[in-house]
Amino acid sequence: MNAPLTRRKLALITGASSGIGSAFARIAAAKGFDVALVARREDRLQSLAREIAERFGVSARFRSTDLCDPEAPNAICNWMSAAGCQVDVLVNNAGYSIPQSFAGTTLTNQLNYLELSVTGPVSLSHHVLPGMVERGWGRIINISSITAFSSGGKGHTLYPASKSFIVKFSQSLNAEVASKGVYVTAVCPGFVDTEFQQANNMADKMSSTPTFLKQTADEVADEAWRRNDRGVEVVVPGFLPKLAAASLKLVPEQIVTPITRAAAEKYYVGD
Ligand SMILES: NC(=O)c1ccc[n+]([C@@H]2O[C@H](COP(=O)([O-])OP(=O)(O)OC[C@H]3O[C@@H](n4cnc5c(N)ncnc54)[C@H](OP(=O)(O)O)[C@@H]3O)[C@@H](O)[C@H]2O)c1
Repeated sequence: MNAPLTRRKLALITGASSGIGSAFARIAAAKGFDVALVARREDRLQSLAREIAERFGVSARFRSTDLCDPEAPNAICNWMSAAGCQVDVLVNNAGYSIPQSFAGTTLTNQLNYLELSVTGPVSLSHHVLPGMVERGWGRIINISSITAFSSGGKGHTLYPASKSFIVKFSQSLNAEVASKGVYVTAVCPGFVDTEFQQANNMADKMSSTPTFLKQTADEVADEAWRRNDRGVEVVVPGFLPKLAAASLKLVPEQIVTPITRAAAEKYYVGD
């Protein structure tokens, strides 16, 4: 969708059609950023873009894109350049998970997952970084998960691995560019009440998770945005997830592993 070109800074947000991505889009717009929204569901993006433009008076453009397509990052960046837009904030948020066993799903499915969750964020960051460094200001927020600190378990096989990658990638990149005015942050949420569970066949299992353990997408995006802006490299939003993340790091692996394996078993849907 075309939207008027403005002199405001712009935030590009992937996975903006629901949950944490939509929350980031509203926060960015409330802070006066133009937004560029990417996900597959065009109707959702269109109505969010309309809401944001009306509510916050910023420019909101959107593009329906499947981020499992290896060409997607290039296509998104060409779309931005063709519109004369530069990206000042990049939020690599789009995500899903594969709850079945690794061998029980096709290799193509697994590689598509890596495209969206690993290669995509790397490519988009690589595209936007030179402009950010040249302007001396930029923000990259990469959405990981508290499972990045876990020992993994049955099903969702690549999920903790990809989320650990996101943490290490963000830390290294931040070490390279923070002194140039570009802050890179990995965000590691615990349980967040979004469409993630329905989208990944976990809704019935998640319904038994106590409410006090769940955060809202707004809480996660708000803390992530504020702390990224202060240059914090790894953000675990919320008190209980912070406690859990600290325990995962400090408690010996032989104690943590059986606990995280039992937790993972709960969300495993088998072959
Ligand atoms: N919810 C949690 O408990 C939780 C905890 C830790 C980390 N996270 C992470 O938080 C991020 C956001 O998840 P969420 O909780 O907000 O879940 P969500 O409500 O399901 O949102 C996921 C977003 O990703 C987009 N997406 C999925 N597959 C895509 C594809 N192939 N191409 C383009 N976009 C795609 C979806 O849009 P379309 O379907 O329209 O494409 C949607 O906008 C993910 O990276 C997730 O791993 C979530």
